[in-house]
Amino acid sequence: MTASTASSQLIKVPVSRLALGMYVTDVDQSKVLTVVTAGLLRRREAISRLKRSNIKFVWVDANKSLPGSGLNNQAGSRSLHRVAQQGLKAPNSTRRQTLLCRQKKARHLVTEAKGMIRKVLGEVFEGKAIEVAPVEVLADKIIESVMLDTDALQYVSALRSKDAYLLEHSVNVAVLLVTFGRHLDLPATTLRQLAVGGILHDIGKIRIDNRILHKPGRLTPQEYEQIKQHQAFAMDALANSTQLHPVSKEVCLMHHEKLDGSGYPCGLAGDAIPLHGRISNICDIYDALTADRCYKEAMSPAAAFKVLLGMTPDQLDQQLVYEFIRCVGVYPVGSLVQLTDGRVGIVWDACGREVRQPVVKCFYSLKQQHYTEVSFVDLQRSPLEIERGISAGSLTFDPSAFF
Ligand SMILES: [Fe+2]
Repeated sequence: MTASTASSQLIKVPVSRLALGMYVTDVDQSKVLTVVTAGLLRRREAISRLKRSNIKFVWVDANKSLPGSGLNNQAGSRSLHRVAQQGLKAPNSTRRQTLLCRQKKARHLVTEAKGMIRKVLGEVFEGKAIEVAPVEVLADKIIESVMLDTDALQYVSALRSKDAYLLEHSVNVAVLLVTFGRHLDLPATTLRQLAVGGILHDIGKIRIDNRILHKPGRLTPQEYEQIKQHQAFAMDALANSTQLHPVSKEVCLMHHEKLDGSGYPCGLAGDAIPLHGRISNICDIYDALTADRCYKEAMSPAAAFKVLLGMTPDQLDQQLVYEFIRCVGVYPVGSLVQLTDGRVGIVWDACGREVRQPVVKCFYSLKQQHYTEVSFVDLQRSPLEIERGISAGSLTFDPSAFF
């Protein structure tokens, strides 16, 4: 919750919503207001440090904050919370109500999925056999959600936290596999096997040293070899699993194989990598590229597609990459875009629309360098257009409050 004090321009801001250019005065540790060195947030590292310290709120002086922080002048005296909430006021149309409702359900599902994956990872870490039945139940819920509204889960999964990367990556790859599998007209039974494979695909990472897994910076060749070991660990964990369908195993064990034989763990090449292995590779790379990590900024979907295309035809199946791009779209729901009037927003609804004409939920002006009233811009009925897709990492403000 954000609040502003009556006598000053101090605003209580959640650390998760801090932006560069904000002037931090104090750290709020619930009951005790601890004074820290006051100053402008000039580097992302300062925000990361606050997050790592488990501090939930800080006090920011809007008057001393820079325009780019979104707290200048008109927007300065307004709490971030109020600005964000404007987008959550009951929208008029039934369509928006439906979307909000589905997104809410999708949020619950993602939370449940992360809890389940955390449990499975713990069991694998302890050397226990994987219980497939509960994973299948979760897979069915993901499929149901994707069938009902492909975009709802995609929208929710676009908002990610760096701390829970492995959990979110597992859910997202499962969602992408089902979405892509559906696009390819694969049968329902296969979608289920793909979802199970996606949920479990990186279980071997639980045995990799966290310092290497989350290392901020380039890995040494030795460290990269250790990361690759997650597939050997996965092979061990899955070896005794008789319940896991071969398609799910292919997703788990082939998502790092490459058509030219340069992948791992087996260096399979060409036809030795079946369809499910090939699509899991594409989904895995796409999700990793579009995630914001401690050592790299998230790419926009368009930039990630460029990387995927650059890996064809040698490493990735070119036709499948083209299909994947068609399936996800250049401006998928949940992605950030800049409109021709300089406003930034999240693609909110794209169902049944031409790719460049979604409904965009706008909340920031790059021209004025501050948050704006939240408004839904229907590009089918507006003279405005999408100027470009942007990545959250490239912004100097935090858009997460507006998802
Ligand atoms: Fe992996």
